[in-house]
Amino acid sequence: MTDTKKSIHGEWSSRFAFILAATGSAVGLGNIWKFPYITGENGGGAFVIVYLLCVLLIGIPIMMAETMLGRRSRQNPINTMITLADEAGADKNWHYLGWMGVIAGFLILSYYSVIAGWASAYVLKAFTGSFFGADAVAIKGLFDGFMASPVQLIFWHTLFMLATMLVVVRGVNTGLEKAVRFLMPCLFVLLMLLVAYAMTFDDYYDKGIKFLFTPDFSKLTANGVLTAMGHAFFTLSLGMGAIMIYGSYLPKNVSIAKTVYLIAGTDTAVALLAGIAIFPIVFAAGLEPAAGPGLIFQTLPIAFGNMTGGWLFGILFFVMLVFAALSSSISLIEPAVAWLIENKDMSRQQACIWSGSITWLLGLGTVFSFNVWSEFKIFDRTIFQLLDYLTANLMLPIGGFCIAVFAGWIMKQQHTEHELDMPDALSYKVWRFLICYVSPAAVFLVFLHVVGVL
Ligand code: PFF
Repeated sequence: MTDTKKSIHGEWSSRFAFILAATGSAVGLGNIWKFPYITGENGGGAFVIVYLLCVLLIGIPIMMAETMLGRRSRQNPINTMITLADEAGADKNWHYLGWMGVIAGFLILSYYSVIAGWASAYVLKAFTGSFFGADAVAIKGLFDGFMASPVQLIFWHTLFMLATMLVVVRGVNTGLEKAVRFLMPCLFVLLMLLVAYAMTFDDYYDKGIKFLFTPDFSKLTANGVLTAMGHAFFTLSLGMGAIMIYGSYLPKNVSIAKTVYLIAGTDTAVALLAGIAIFPIVFAAGLEPAAGPGLIFQTLPIAFGNMTGGWLFGILFFVMLVFAALSSSISLIEPAVAWLIENKDMSRQQACIWSGSITWLLGLGTVFSFNVWSEFKIFDRTIFQLLDYLTANLMLPIGGFCIAVFAGWIMKQQHTEHELDMPDALSYKVWRFLICYVSPAAVFLVFLHVVGVL
């Protein structure tokens, strides 16, 4: 592998562009929609601690490994695994890891786009004043009514998928990079505004903050631990090749380690800030933190409908959510698009149309889980719940486990050392210890815990 090798799709114009794009991928519905509701469902503080530990011990080392694999091969995840396995003299079957990633991307995006569609619809609802003066019952009625309408959900899902395709079709520099340059700074400003608003509540500390940060381990189940670990993968976009493909567009001279700390740190901060902004509002309105996927849609509009400036805050919040989702969704589909271009000789446009249409179609399963098929369950789960469990709790951790094993045990040490180019020998040793032992063992132990062996 030569140091001059470049991706045929282009390259990020700078380290900053990569940071924006990867942070854009990491920060999304996972931080603002999912983190609060799964924290609420799993009892708060103890869940947050397990999640933070997973980010630190599993997420960060694997993110470095994934970026490194992409940059070394400069191809889509499937071809990356073929090339690097070949280079290490390992079995060809490693390319199935790339395949699992591409499939996970499709499955995740299929429901991600539906939820992002909800957020888009709520921009309009906020704008037209639907929350104005509404109480909890009215807001729940609004949400339930929306969920009951497959036509509306499909409309917004379609719109969001089209927006995603429109960005992806423009390619690495003109599409992805331009979009995140604009999206990310907006997101931060809006989130800070919301936190400032939440701090004006009387119980801000006693209820909201304590719920998030006071651990009560009796509330944490084995499945809660799995969800926390799965979420560490989901929120950092790990285990499916999204960060790998972004790494393949990373210029050679950029330090992977420093960049990854920054991305993971920002992602974690956004999730915690979202929690700090959301839970005080939930408790102040006497609402249930365990309300499920509807949590932010059923709770925040009450606040927006009744506070001064709520009209504007409401619009801003949902716009922010759509932006965050868009900069993530483009990374969910990019591995498949890059594969179609590299291997099937398609133009970027054709690749986008193909992958976008398949994802859109799959998304209908999630749309119907909230209405006409809500009683249809597989393993006691609706299609949406099944897709979420299968991808976040199983496929991403399994993908991450394999990436750790590959980077730690299969690749030649001199290659990983050269590619990571750590500032000092000790940092490399720490990474190596984590990737060879700690990260894979932690994933394995959590799985054992869930199946009841531990
Ligand atoms: N990290 C994104 C979020 O937190 O919303 C979701 C995601 C994006 C997961 C890309 C996986 C991925 F590859």
